[in-house]
Amino acid sequence: MDSKTEPKSFVIKGDICYSTSPQEVSCTQNGYLVCVDGKSAGVFGELPQSYAELPLVDCTGQLVVPGMSDIHVHAPQYAFRGLGMDLELLDWLNTHTFPEEAKYADLAYAGDAYEIFADDLRHSATTRAVVFGTLHVPATELLMDDLEATGLVTYVGKVNMDRNSPDNLVEDSAESAEATRGWVADVTGRYERTHPIITPRFTPSVTDGLMAELADIAHQNDLPVQSHLSENLSEIGWVKELCPWSTCYGDAYDHFGLLGEKTIMAHCVYSTDEEVDLLRRTGTYVAHCPQSNAQLASGIAPIRRYLDLGMNVGLATDVAGGADLSMWRCMADAVAVSKLRWRLVDQSLSPLITQEAFWMATMGGGSFFGKVGSFAEGYELDALVLDDSAIRTPRDLTVWERLERYVYLAEEGGYLTRKFVAGRQIDLD
Ligand code: GUN
Ligand code: FE
Repeated sequence: MDSKTEPKSFVIKGDICYSTSPQEVSCTQNGYLVCVDGKSAGVFGELPQSYAELPLVDCTGQLVVPGMSDIHVHAPQYAFRGLGMDLELLDWLNTHTFPEEAKYADLAYAGDAYEIFADDLRHSATTRAVVFGTLHVPATELLMDDLEATGLVTYVGKVNMDRNSPDNLVEDSAESAEATRGWVADVTGRYERTHPIITPRFTPSVTDGLMAELADIAHQNDLPVQSHLSENLSEIGWVKELCPWSTCYGDAYDHFGLLGEKTIMAHCVYSTDEEVDLLRRTGTYVAHCPQSNAQLASGIAPIRRYLDLGMNVGLATDVAGGADLSMWRCMADAVAVSKLRWRLVDQSLSPLITQEAFWMATMGGGSFFGKVGSFAEGYELDALVLDDSAIRTPRDLTVWERLERYVYLAEEGGYLTRKFVAGRQIDLD
C-alpha cells in the first residue's frame, strides 16, 4: 500500500503503557489507544462511542508502548559494531573509526553498509533517530534515501572534520563549509521524514573558523545541531589546548551559538558546574550513551543530576561505541551504570529507576522531534506492539512488571509484532 494513502485513523487494543512523568508510567490492561490522523486521541479503558467505527487493530494480550528515540547513533560505524572495544576514545577513533569512515568515499561500500543499517533500524524498537553519517556528501545522501524508505523519522548529519584527522578523512575548511551548504540545499524539502542536522564531529576535529561557518549555516537554515561533549578526560584536556579562550568545553560550542533547544550533545560525562549550567540554560539536549561510555572506558554520566535539574535528556546507543541498536539494552544499561556510579562514585546521586530509563527512551528523547514519545492526546502516534508471551514465568505479572522485565529480557523472547510512526505502520517483513 502506498504509505501516503494508508489510513492513519484506527484503534489499537492491548495492554498499554506510557510515561506520565519521569517516574510514573500509566498502564491500562485491555485498553484502547485511539489514533486520529496520525495523532493520539488518548488511551481509554472502554472505547468511546465516537471512535467505534474506526478500524480495530486487535493486539489483545500484547504490550503497546510509545516508540523509542535513539538520539545519537553513527550509521557508518554499524559495519564494525562489536569489534575493537579494547581502546579508549581517541585511540579507538584513530585505530578503528576513522579508517572505517574513510571507506564511505566508495559509494558501493556505503550502499551495502547503509542498506544493512537502515534495515536493522527498521526492525528495531527505534521509531526516531538522530544519526551521524560521514563527511562524504554522496554517501550521506544515500543514507538519507535508505532511511526515508524505512518510514522512520530521522535527522541525519553530514559530518565536518577539518583538523587532527587522517589524510583520507579530512576536509579543507572552506570546502567543508561549501559542501555543507550544497548538501543542505540538496536535501531540504527532498524528503518527508528525513531531515538534515549540522554535525561538527567534535571540537578537536573542527577549527574555530569552520565552527563559525557551521553555526551560520545552522542559523540561516533554521537547522538543528549535533556533536560530542565532555566524553573523555584526554579529549577535554585537548580541547583546552585547542581553544585556550574557552571557559569550559561547552563554551567552545556556545561561543559560536551552537547550543540550544535544537542541539544534541552526546555524553556529557565530565561536565563541570559551569558547563551543566550552560546546557541547562540553553535547553541543550544531553544524549546519554551508557553502553558506549562503558565500552570506551569513558566513565559514567551523572544523569540523576541532569534529571533533577529538569534538563533535556534522552538515551542513545552511540553505535559503534555501543555494540548494537537495542534501546532495551540501552535502558537497562542506563539503570545499571547509575547504580555503579552511586555505589562507587557518589552516594548523593541516587540510582535511576526503570521508569526513568523508559521515560528518557520515549518522552525525553522524543521531545527533540516535537510532541513525540507519549500516548497523551495530541502526541504523534509512534507505537510498538510487543509480544512477551515467550518470556516464561509461573508468576502472574502486572502490566508494568511485564514491561519492566521486557526492558531486561527483550532479547530472550520478546517479539516486536507491529511498529507505527506518526500513525503509519512500518513494514517489519
Ligand atoms: N567523538 C568524536 N567522534 C566520536 C565518535 O565517532 N564516537 C564517539 N563515541 N565519540 C566521538
Ligand atoms: Fe558518538
